[in-house]
Amino acid sequence: MATMAKQDQIIGNSASFLDLMDQISRAAPLDRPMLVIGERGTGKELIAARLHYLSGRWNRNFQKMNCAALAESLLESELFGYEPGAFTGARNRRAGRFEAADEGSLFLDEIGTMSMAAQEKLLRVIEYGEFERVGGTDTINVDVRVIGATNIDLPAAADAGEFRHDLLDRLAFDVITVPPLRERPEDIMLLAEHFGMAMARELEWLVFPGFSRTATEAMMDYAWPGNIRELKNVVERAIYRAWDGEAPICDIVFDPFESPFRPPAKTNRPQNTTPEDNADQQEDVAKAGPCLPEGPFDLRSQVCEFEKTLYGHALKVNRHNQRKAAEHVGLSYDQFRHGLKKHGLL
Ligand SMILES: Nc1ncnc2c1ncn2[C@@H]1O[C@H](COP(=O)(O)OP(=O)(O)O)[C@@H](O)[C@H]1O
Ligand SMILES: [Mg+2]
Repeated sequence: MATMAKQDQIIGNSASFLDLMDQISRAAPLDRPMLVIGERGTGKELIAARLHYLSGRWNRNFQKMNCAALAESLLESELFGYEPGAFTGARNRRAGRFEAADEGSLFLDEIGTMSMAAQEKLLRVIEYGEFERVGGTDTINVDVRVIGATNIDLPAAADAGEFRHDLLDRLAFDVITVPPLRERPEDIMLLAEHFGMAMARELEWLVFPGFSRTATEAMMDYAWPGNIRELKNVVERAIYRAWDGEAPICDIVFDPFESPFRPPAKTNRPQNTTPEDNADQQEDVAKAGPCLPEGPFDLRSQVCEFEKTLYGHALKVNRHNQRKAAEHVGLSYDQFRHGLKKHGLL
């Protein structure tokens, strides 16, 4: 039986997480395409798998494909297969993912990156269950449930002419939007304990000592831009770096690149300058502030843009710790959060 592996357990206890699980259970048995939307690392792939395994298709193939992983033409032959001679090197016929997923489900990750040509073919499979292999003329019939995922705003992409409206209408029979981890803080420590225990087991510690208060506070304060994938890494790193499994884990490193010896980021400055020149120039830029507009300009929107840049900068230099960032810019935590919301940075 195709059960989900133990490591694929979906954990959460917040109200929004439980609502999400409800929505998934209701949507799973429906033979309709679905869209899963959410920031990176929020568990979109796990959710797609759950939609499949809770559907009538559970004992059939669940195929996964990341649309951003392949160039345009390769993606088409990967999805729809090809006939001999379709392109140089295509000696034999090859079935694509749609044929492999027949009677099952196909998860299309980063669906917003798909070319217009591939989108057109996709629309036809979803609507009529038919397509031709690349370089072929025979029409193939399949019965595949498509589950798409993305972290971009697809309606905006459609308005900008980058995604087909008709495909969006068809895919968005229902949309499952996964809340980011920082919007469900109740789940942070639950997940941290879960990943912590699994890591302690992997290291063959006798017990998992838990996290110290400061470690807990640091994790609760952090904004988790990489969501659960990031949390898992941070927890596993903290545990393997800890000396042994006796004292509660207290050292949390959010950014493993942080080091006094870290090489400086590449800038677009002229090559033949010394580091001292660069430092001087950077200081000049900081003193000069943002570029001044040449013609007439809208003062309020310019100020607003600059404010947004400063909020982003404050977050970055404080490694997304909102409390520290607020302190850094002389605002209260609530004022700072308010500003982040206003600029759509939350
Ligand atoms: N609710 C959850 N409970 C347990 N693990 C989770 C949960 N959500 C995500 N994960 C884990 O986080 C990682 C990222 O999940 P994934 O589904 O690949 O995210 P996305 O596709 O949204 O980037 C995976 O290791 C996954 O197992
Ligand atoms: Mg993913």
